[in-house]
Amino acid sequence: MVFLKMFRRFYIETFGCQMNVHDSEKMAGVLSGEGYRPTDDPKEADIIIYNTCSIREKAEQKFFSELGRIKPLKRKRPHLKIAVAGCIAQQKGKAVFARAPHVDLVFGPQNIHLLGGLLRNDRGRAVANEDNPFIAESDLPVLRKPGGRAWVSIMYGCNNYCSYCIVPFTRGRERSRPSGSVAQEIAGLAVQGFKEVTLLGQNVNSYRSDLDFPGLLRAINAIDGIERVRFVTSHPRDLSEDLISAMSGLEKVCEHLHLPLQSGSDKVLKQMNRGYSLDEYRRKVDALRERVSGLSLTTDIITGFPGETDRDHRSTIEALEEIRYDGIFAFKYSPRPGTSAALIADPVHDTSKTERIEEILALQDAITLGINRGLENTVQEILVEGPSETDASMATGRTRTNKVVNFPAVSVRPGDTVQVRITSARKHSLIGRLCEGLHT
Ligand code: 5AD
Ligand code: SF4
Repeated sequence: MVFLKMFRRFYIETFGCQMNVHDSEKMAGVLSGEGYRPTDDPKEADIIIYNTCSIREKAEQKFFSELGRIKPLKRKRPHLKIAVAGCIAQQKGKAVFARAPHVDLVFGPQNIHLLGGLLRNDRGRAVANEDNPFIAESDLPVLRKPGGRAWVSIMYGCNNYCSYCIVPFTRGRERSRPSGSVAQEIAGLAVQGFKEVTLLGQNVNSYRSDLDFPGLLRAINAIDGIERVRFVTSHPRDLSEDLISAMSGLEKVCEHLHLPLQSGSDKVLKQMNRGYSLDEYRRKVDALRERVSGLSLTTDIITGFPGETDRDHRSTIEALEEIRYDGIFAFKYSPRPGTSAALIADPVHDTSKTERIEEILALQDAITLGINRGLENTVQEILVEGPSETDASMATGRTRTNKVVNFPAVSVRPGDTVQVRITSARKHSLIGRLCEGLHT
């Protein structure tokens, strides 16, 4: 007789940033240790986790409407547990139950290590949203998707209190993970076949343990088997000369930097509490471009910050024209409860915000396309990620500069490093073909 062991199944839906995507991998790691297995179908799950984001109101609304939609599932499967994790969980705590009575568990990003205990404790609803200053020390198990690229937390929280931002309230004070534990995790990833690591933190430039951030990059650059090192996010104020030297001198550190500008107006930057002027930012970009050849630069822009005038908006447009980023993420300002900017009267009408963001995006599309066209006919090193989501006959991967390249998938596997000739440029990706004999 054959006994089939029945595993309990988990389904995790992730909203928001890279940090959340990686936190979901940690939740998956904790659940695997508890004997659960992943499923892609929420209907067959025994626990559904929503890993939420509260950085803008829209993300919050999207989550609550989705949460409402799964209510009938719980009626059909009464043992099903529904958990709300992430930044909304951290901020709202037990108030989530009032809005969504079908939720069982609420736990914040600083309490992922408690997930197993919360599930084993069967006394009904539970909340874990305390600040946890020890999380930098705790190495949680991580269940990653195979494919060559891995995310690794090097620090948690943020001390910057940009006036619009909710993150310091949801992810707590800044804590850096000891460099030895980061290096050990990455050496373990190399053994499993991962070739690229992205170091994660709200402001990696202020990483400080026994090493500072450039020191950590030097340590990671020395790990055998790792070919590419990336990091997000850098705060322009804390970007040091030494980091520029590390980027220019360490062969595994990729030629890409995400350096959020937020606004081109010094007045708005001051109100945002960013700690730099446009000119200080510009000088750092000049130094970077001089020393890191082929650098690709991306940024975040917030449009319609309270009191942003047409003049301020023009300053942002001029900054985009001058700096010529490879790509940007632009957001309409969204007031977040508890932040200091939410207290500033906001005379900017939503229609103006929409017009401004459309102008920003149209300008950037033209700049990105122009830069990408310059890559046509060049040969780029691509780390293969897998089949393209829209066309299974194509493979997708990235250049060292973090540009997405799609090319006909002839005998390539995720994690392969290949040489691809770029044949045409699109706004958000490049098309290419594999170079014969250059499969490395
Ligand atoms: N409104 C709009 N955009 C925001 N961001 C952070 N907070 C807000 C907000 N309240 C943007 C910033 C940040 C990115 C991750 O999200 O540009 O860099
Ligand atoms: Fe938010 Fe500013 Fe911290 Fe980034 S640096 S997470 S924008 S407070």
